Amino acid sequence: MQRIAVLTSGGDAPGMNAAIRAVVRRGIDHGMQVFGVQRGFAGLIRDSIDRLDARDVGGIMEHGGTFLGSARSAEWKTEAGRSQALHNLARRGIEAVIVIGGNGSQTGANALSTMGFPVVGIASTIDNDLFGSDLTIGCDTALNTTIEAMDRLRTTGASHHRAHIVETMGRDFGYLGLMAGIAGGAEVISIPELEVEPTEIAQRLRDAWLRGKTHSIVVVAEGCRNAATAIHQHFEQHESEIGFTVRVTILGHIVRGGPPTAADRLLATRLGVAAVDTLADGQHGVLVGMQRQQISRSPLAEVAATRKKLDLELITLGQVLAR
Ligand code: F6P
Repeated sequence: MQRIAVLTSGGDAPGMNAAIRAVVRRGIDHGMQVFGVQRGFAGLIRDSIDRLDARDVGGIMEHGGTFLGSARSAEWKTEAGRSQALHNLARRGIEAVIVIGGNGSQTGANALSTMGFPVVGIASTIDNDLFGSDLTIGCDTALNTTIEAMDRLRTTGASHHRAHIVETMGRDFGYLGLMAGIAGGAEVISIPELEVEPTEIAQRLRDAWLRGKTHSIVVVAEGCRNAATAIHQHFEQHESEIGFTVRVTILGHIVRGGPPTAADRLLATRLGVAAVDTLADGQHGVLVGMQRQQISRSPLAEVAATRKKLDLELITLGQVLAR
């Protein structure tokens, strides 16, 4: 394999740049020419493809986001869009594509793979909801940013005897909420897999108030039926019963930005190298991830068809500690 391309797709994640850098430099190490695609699958369709050299990817690892740009492409879901991409790739003599992204992106990668084109995926999303990798690029940084925000809220909360409801990202998967709740010492954790009703949250805050706590944190994952603002609305009528006054913070896209942690840089680098090695070994149609701390390769078809489950032990731990 002589000519390969790399793209980043879907929601960006801190560490994507480290993965691109690893792909480019490992590719060159194998004697390959490496091409960068602008703005994900949309760039494949529009033929926004440029050669990348070792120097082009210098000084990018420490930056969040993706220097190639990212997008969610509706056109990619059409056969016509993908056929146009195949035409562009063939004209440039590109023999394989590495797709760095999460659930939707790996489903898109699988669609290209089933058309007979060699594709390798790299597990990357802050949500950590991708089957085929215990951890995905970006989730460690997002978790650390979430916890830092909670730490800050706790100090102001203690000064004013307030409870803070913190809404975390994660789409419909509770990983970020659960882990932030455990590592950030939340009094209540509500995630889609284990949603806590507003009346129950109010009761737990009341108990915490009566136990003499000066502050409380409620973590609510964005995928819950009752999101943070809905819970707050419910509380507004009952604040005097709860004890604490209550404020809401929706962290949103803040947790997707900022420099990647060392853990994300290392994960991204290892997965980037492994993806190129996979192609050099003549394998494709797989997602490269990390399972039980080892590089793993899972069929893209299985990744696209399977829902990841949250570790039940962690859910139990979350329940025990969030008192
Ligand atoms: O998948 C990453 C993610 O940040 C989710 O946590 C969130 O639900 C979604 O993307 C937000 O998407 P957008 O950036 O398109 O608003």
